[in-house]
Amino acid sequence: MNTHHYTASMPPERGTSIAPANVLWQEAACSTWPCPMLLMKGLLALVWIFCVLYVDAATVPIQKSSRVGEGIVEFIPQGFDPSQTPSLILKEEPVSLGKTPTGWTLYPEFTFTANKASASLQLTGEISLYGGGEVTGPLLRNGQYIKLWNTDTGAYGVDGGKRLYQSHPWVLGVRRDGTAFGILFDTSWKSELTTNSNKIELNTEGALFRIYIIDRASPKEVLKGLAELTGTIQMPARWTLGYHQCRFSYGTEERVREIADTFRAKNLPCDVIWMDIDYMDGYRVFTFHPQNFPDPRALNDDLHKKGFHAVYMIDPGVKADNNYSVYQSGKSNDVWVKRSNGQEYQGKVWPGYCTFPDFTMPKAREWWAQLYKDFLAKGIDGVWNDMNEPAVNDDDIPENQRLGTMPYDTPHRGGGNLPAGSHLLYHNAYGRLMVEASLNGILAANPEKRPFLLTRANLLGGQRYAATWTGDNWAGWEHLKLSVPMSLSLGLSGQPFSGPDIGGFLNNTDGDLWAHWLGFGVFLPFVRGHACAGTNDKEPWAFGAEIEKTSRIALERRYRLLPYIYTLFYEAHQTGLPVMAPVFFANPQDLRLRNEEQAFLLGDNLLVIPAFAENPTLPFGIWENLNLIDGEQSDKYQAKLKIKGGSIIPAGKIIRNTNEKSFDPLSLFVCLDESGKAAGQLYWDAGDGWDFLCGDYSLLTFSAEKTANTVKINLLSKQGNRKIEKEIDKIKVELLLNGKVYTGSGSLKNGVNISINLI
Ligand code: NOJ
Repeated sequence: MNTHHYTASMPPERGTSIAPANVLWQEAACSTWPCPMLLMKGLLALVWIFCVLYVDAATVPIQKSSRVGEGIVEFIPQGFDPSQTPSLILKEEPVSLGKTPTGWTLYPEFTFTANKASASLQLTGEISLYGGGEVTGPLLRNGQYIKLWNTDTGAYGVDGGKRLYQSHPWVLGVRRDGTAFGILFDTSWKSELTTNSNKIELNTEGALFRIYIIDRASPKEVLKGLAELTGTIQMPARWTLGYHQCRFSYGTEERVREIADTFRAKNLPCDVIWMDIDYMDGYRVFTFHPQNFPDPRALNDDLHKKGFHAVYMIDPGVKADNNYSVYQSGKSNDVWVKRSNGQEYQGKVWPGYCTFPDFTMPKAREWWAQLYKDFLAKGIDGVWNDMNEPAVNDDDIPENQRLGTMPYDTPHRGGGNLPAGSHLLYHNAYGRLMVEASLNGILAANPEKRPFLLTRANLLGGQRYAATWTGDNWAGWEHLKLSVPMSLSLGLSGQPFSGPDIGGFLNNTDGDLWAHWLGFGVFLPFVRGHACAGTNDKEPWAFGAEIEKTSRIALERRYRLLPYIYTLFYEAHQTGLPVMAPVFFANPQDLRLRNEEQAFLLGDNLLVIPAFAENPTLPFGIWENLNLIDGEQSDKYQAKLKIKGGSIIPAGKIIRNTNEKSFDPLSLFVCLDESGKAAGQLYWDAGDGWDFLCGDYSLLTFSAEKTANTVKINLLSKQGNRKIEKEIDKIKVELLLNGKVYTGSGSLKNGVNISINLI
């Protein structure tokens, strides 16, 4: 056994409130002293404890801890070597700002045994645990365990413990008093994360790593700290927040046009049509099927004319085919992952045997990035990176030896700031490195546009590069319900832009399930219907006239709320706060709310209660019902919406896609707090491009105040240079007060006064 013998001395600054594990063990042993037999047993126990603590699990002292942000401390274990565990999670190397703050209580413990590093954080008191990124099981993570090894897991079970497509070594803890902390394990090595109520623990199969702990006044503040370390999403183009229609696959140009035309003919809002793998020529990435997609430029032009955007899939596996230019080019540029004997690693994916870019090499990322130029020039608006765990079909070897990916010892060559390392180190970062390269390619090809990239595999911090969806779910009630905590957990782990395959990917979907799913799915950050090959049609009209009507209402609700949702995405881009948040965010001190996972918040001000929700636990205080579309109240599938007292929610009119003008008029939904006041914001800009970075945006703050029996709603302040007055002249206000709706209208400049009858 290759064990490092570190002394178990505790760092001098270790806090007193948390007893280290070995002290607790010794206390337990002391209580057995009264009789000689027990004394003997006690001694044996001590020897065993010594072995366990000092030989089997060698404690590694903290070599250095320092403050790297407000309430953020970095812990570096003795023996940490960045060339064995490079950071693929942090957005940049943190800078030490001085000593660990006095009174700091959260100290991790590191161990290193048999060449495997682990770390843990003892917890005292009653702590609610969250995060872990893309996880099955409950939102509240106490007593849960996940395997961090990105894996293509179709039809994953809904209980915890499953391997999924992404790895987020991150846990958020919320104390009884609503203060919070987070622990970030800065490693991509294969690992397991256990979140027990008294201890958070990460056991890896690799070298020592650094830890970052954030301790702040609220869960939101901790998430902002996570964003300070790992970055935020790019500001998305507005069209990406509309409805997306996908299928594996719309197999011909004609079928794509038919789908697009049906949306328009039926007056169903939609912004995006997706091309899954069948648009390719024999599943060769960056090619088009000569018969089924002979003229992608013309197809995309047509889609654009009808107000759609087009997203196309690109997988990492490149068909090993000497007559295929991408393969030839990759070979001559020497970018493929190679086995230790120097031969190309090949694994089966959709096109048969494939080679895989070694994205750890800067030259491979650059090579990959430049492939997007000609591809996107065909009028492609967004890219979908799939199968990038990477998933490999190894059904040609005995079942008990299958890995579903590259062998663990496959070497990656690294370069730049990344060392050479095994697949065990880089597997969990493969998708994240791929999307970094893809994003660079998209930005280089279309520098004037905001990029849109969706990825299946990723690593904590990967929100910087791509949005995500929760993989191959199942068309069933359990998965429908699971889609709420899954997207919530991603939002609590730095990734605000996510959603499930609405309707369920695998298995046939019936109208009832579809309508329930879309009824709340339209309030998730990413709203895409998707379906697997061989399953029934799953477009909003596929289930008959009644469900089509329900779908239209649901989609129209999304589109009316786009100004609010766009504002939330701007906030997420600026601060890292989630777009969709757990209900306990409404009051982190209200312990009743800690495990609510049916209802959820959209921003701070809107509560969404899906139609399936049974006895959801809702926050106290003023929350008035909010209605957006005629007919929604009598539709059993629509989620209930409640607006928070003290807030103003901006909304637009019903539009069929985001090319249409939203504000004709601007609607403001107002709900007063106990003191008769309310406030809210609208962020608006061109909807795409980068001019907003140079001031071409408007951030409007509205306020409302009741005096006697009049409520005045005014524009309180405006930031940014955009002449929003050209887009918004009329305002329509709905004041929601004590279950009644009062309406008024006016102009942005003069505000609106509403008389209320208080009896
Ligand atoms: C697997 C993805 O998870 C799924 O969404 C996609 O439709 C298929 N690959 C085919 O590309």
